[in-house]
Amino acid sequence: MIPGFRGSPWPSIVLGTNLDFQKRLQELAARIHQGFAHVTVREAMNELYLWIQEQTGISSLKLRVDPPQFDEIIWESLETFANQRSIGMPFAYILGRVEFYGLELSIGPGVLIPRPETEELTDRATAALEPALAASDSVRVLDLCCGSGCIGIGLANGISRILDKLSHKCTVEIDLSDLSGYALEYARENARKHTFPNIVYRHFQGDLMEPIRKAGSLPYDLIVCNPPYIHPREVSLMSAETALHEPADALYHPDPPALYLKILKEIRPFLRPGGMAILELSPFIADVVQLLCESEFERCQCSIDTDLSGKKRYLIFACKQPV
Ligand SMILES: C[S@@+](CC[C@H](N)C(=O)[O-])C[C@H]1O[C@@H](n2cnc3c(N)ncnc32)[C@H](O)[C@@H]1O
Repeated sequence: MIPGFRGSPWPSIVLGTNLDFQKRLQELAARIHQGFAHVTVREAMNELYLWIQEQTGISSLKLRVDPPQFDEIIWESLETFANQRSIGMPFAYILGRVEFYGLELSIGPGVLIPRPETEELTDRATAALEPALAASDSVRVLDLCCGSGCIGIGLANGISRILDKLSHKCTVEIDLSDLSGYALEYARENARKHTFPNIVYRHFQGDLMEPIRKAGSLPYDLIVCNPPYIHPREVSLMSAETALHEPADALYHPDPPALYLKILKEIRPFLRPGGMAILELSPFIADVVQLLCESEFERCQCSIDTDLSGKKRYLIFACKQPV
C-alpha cells in the first residue's frame, strides 16, 4: 500500500469512483481539441472544470477529487460549452464577462475583449487626471472607440476613489463613443452596472469625433482612445481565437499610422488647454506615429510610453496652447 494513501483526502481519484464523470469530461475535452487544435486536451479539461465551477459553484479541486452526481442540465451546458470551444469561441465570450480594473464587465461577440495593456492605460489615465480633479469642480473625459466601455468605466472606478478623498465637490462627465452599435450596447450595460456618485456617463455613436462635434460638446480634460491598430497583414500574429471571433472592425485598419493622425487632428480642437490624450498603439507603429504627431503639431507634446513588458504602447499627446 502507498504510505499515507488510505484515508487521504484524495481517494476517489485513485480508487476510480468517478470514472464515469472523468470519462465524459475526457470525451468532451477530446472533442474540443479535435475541433480547435490550439487547445490541448489538458487545457480543455481545465476549462471544463472551470465551466462547471462557474455553473455550480463547486471548486475545480473538489470536482477533480470528489464530484457529485450531476443532472443532465449540467451535462447539456457542458455539451454547449464544448461545442462553442471546439470552434475556437473565446472563453470570455462564453462566460459573458471579464474582470477589468477591479470591475466585472459584460462582453460577448461583437465587442473586443479588453486586454491587460488597456488596463494599464486606464491606470495611467486615472493618475493623469488627479491634478484636474484636485483643482476643478467639473472635469470632462472622453473614451473614444470605447468598445465595451472598459477604459471610461474603469476610469470612473479610479476617479471615484480620488473624489472620495477630495475636500471639495467635483462632478465628472464621461463620454463613451463608438461606431459599432453592438459595442455600444455593452458599453451602456456596463455603465448602468457601474455607477458612482458625481460621475455621469453619456453615450455617442458615430465615426470618430463626428457625433461629439454634432452634439456641440465642450472640450475635454482627458481623451482616451484605443482604436483598431492592427494592419491586416499582421493577422498571422493574432491568436486563432481572436482572428476567428473578435470583431474585425475593432482590430484592423488598412493604414494605422494614418488613422492616428486623423484621430489627433480630430481630437485637437476638443482638448482643453493643458488637457491630455492617451492613445494605445502597436509597438510596430509607435515611432512613425510619434514622428507624424511631432511634424503635424509642433507646439504640442507627442511622447511614447512603454507598457509593463517594455513595449512602446502609449502615445501621450498634450497641448498647452488653445487651438
Ligand atoms: C481596439 S477596439 C477598443 C475597444 C475598447 N476601448 C478596449 O480597449 O477594449 C476599437 C474600437 O473602435 C471602434 N471603432 C472602429 N472604427 C471606429 C470609428 N471610425 N469611429 C469610432 N469607433 C470606431 C470599434 O468598434 C471598437 O469598439
